[in-house]
Amino acid sequence: MKVLVVMGSPRKGNTWRAAEAIRETMQAGGDVEFEYLMLRDADLAQCTGCLQCFVKGEEHCPRKDDAPEIEAKLHSADGVIFASPVYGMNVTGLMKTFVDRLSYIFHRPRFFGKKALLLTTAGAIGQKDVLKYLDLVARIWGFEVVAKVGLVTQFDELPARTRELHKWQLAAAAIAFHQAILSGKESPPPVMDVIVFNAQRASFLGLEKESPADYKYWKEHGWFEPGRRYYSDARVSIFTHLVGRTVGWFSGRQVRKSKVVKW
Ligand SMILES: Cc1cc2nc3c(=O)[nH]c(=O)nc-3n(C[C@H](O)[C@H](O)[C@H](O)COP(=O)(O)O)c2cc1C
Repeated sequence: MKVLVVMGSPRKGNTWRAAEAIRETMQAGGDVEFEYLMLRDADLAQCTGCLQCFVKGEEHCPRKDDAPEIEAKLHSADGVIFASPVYGMNVTGLMKTFVDRLSYIFHRPRFFGKKALLLTTAGAIGQKDVLKYLDLVARIWGFEVVAKVGLVTQFDELPARTRELHKWQLAAAAIAFHQAILSGKESPPPVMDVIVFNAQRASFLGLEKESPADYKYWKEHGWFEPGRRYYSDARVSIFTHLVGRTVGWFSGRQVRKSKVVKW
């Protein structure tokens, strides 16, 4: 089993130590290969905003750096830990650049069947917002988020009781993550994810000219086919399907009508 840690901290500090605790628990439970993608060491420039990745495809990105290798690393892992400290009430700039540069995946999701664990540490506040943001990113990209940990580290030495509590939180998340990867099962998606599928479907179906890369990708994956309930073959009940199709159709219509997507 391969686990990739996408590390958004510029140092080997609190967040890295928390990831190490997860690694130790997982490796105590079996054969788990861990790799750290230290974003601080990656050659990953900021997005220039040209929109070529959305319109024509990611291969048209003018930045020639590590982005394709980084995406390949995500593909080769069975599970990914998205780890970032809270900086200014959000993820770090390193993590945000990583998300920006792979933003075409929001339109053309691809990590179905893979599990994600979300990890953040904060001096005092903001961990909930960071977990919420990372959850949105990971889920739209296709990951199933199976565990989340947000630790408050404060700036001084933590009391022994808090340290003990953190240890338990990290161990519980590591075990849940490990089990989910081992099971290999894809859980039924939450209704919100089915709504997102249908909204994107309704939008891209009408954007063949404006967004040809998205249209082609969706068509090739069979996601425009009438009976299609979701990106993957995960089980979607008829009720969830109908709610998703109805709400999604209306939001997709809004996008098409307003032609918000103007390149
Ligand atoms: C530039 C910067 C901004 C920060 N912003 C916040 C913040 O908004 N909220 C908070 O609770 N802690 C904040 N912190 C504290 C860090 O989130 C906290 O110390 C974290 O555990 C650092 O993780 P690291 O050791 O992995 O880098 C900030 C730290 C830095 C350096």
